[in-house]
Amino acid sequence: MSRRRRVYEGKAKVLYEGPEPGTLIQHFKDDATAFDGTKHELIDGKGVLNNRISEFIFTRLNEIGVPTHFIRSLNMREQLIREVEIVPIEVIVRNVAAGSISKRLGIEEGTPLPRSIIEFCYKNDALGDPMVSEEHITAFGWASPQEIDDMMALALRINDFLTGLFLGIGIKVVDFKIEFGRLFEGEMMRIVLADEISPDSCRLWDINTNEKLDKDRFRRDMGGLVDAYQEVARRLGILFENDTGKPTGPTLVKS
Ligand code: TMP
Ligand code: ASP
Repeated sequence: MSRRRRVYEGKAKVLYEGPEPGTLIQHFKDDATAFDGTKHELIDGKGVLNNRISEFIFTRLNEIGVPTHFIRSLNMREQLIREVEIVPIEVIVRNVAAGSISKRLGIEEGTPLPRSIIEFCYKNDALGDPMVSEEHITAFGWASPQEIDDMMALALRINDFLTGLFLGIGIKVVDFKIEFGRLFEGEMMRIVLADEISPDSCRLWDINTNEKLDKDRFRRDMGGLVDAYQEVARRLGILFENDTGKPTGPTLVKS
């Protein structure tokens, strides 16, 4: 049994105290939930795949100067991260209509949007993560105007990066959800990307077939979730399936 102190347990991840002050260990569970936790299942292997995919993306983002909480990978299910104060806002970036925007505005799923659209939701399961405006965010003090600007600028950079990365491996980034945290360094505070980026938090469609390679397979009872996540990891070149035991990196796919 682990003697580590559990700091926080969410629906799909656990945070443990890290080895040094200001660090935490982020552990990916196999739990899949949807509709604010009302639908729940254990899916063997999901946590390992999400950890691997998210660590790959956060590493690349760190390399291109997008600040994140990610420090390094620890094992199949765990990564070392910086402790941040989570901003209670989910930032959603959409390139193609799907899910709630399709329902809300009556746009057929799969319709490309005129430009990338950013939405904010207040992180509160009991309320069903309601969509809120910048007015609500600043009036209730969830984030300052400067922090909103920082989050939007980072969200668009992340969108450009993800869109390009996945385009190269034959996958369309329909939309994704990200979360940010406040990183305190002495007197300084800055906004950094936190949480995860994985098929749990993105809509990823095969470019040629529109096959769903994301958590909609669970939300919509389609089955084949692990196979789909594995396909994403395989195309990213981060499944250990070659003789050398080393990941190969993304392989360019021509569409
Ligand atoms: P939506 O269409 O249901 O609003 O979802 C938009 C994107 O955000 C989609 O990629 C799924 C992701 N998402 C989460 O990661 N967590 C959530 O709680 C919700 C509602 C959406
Ligand atoms: N993350 C949310 C939940 O677990 C919903 C979702 O991703 O659809 O309930």
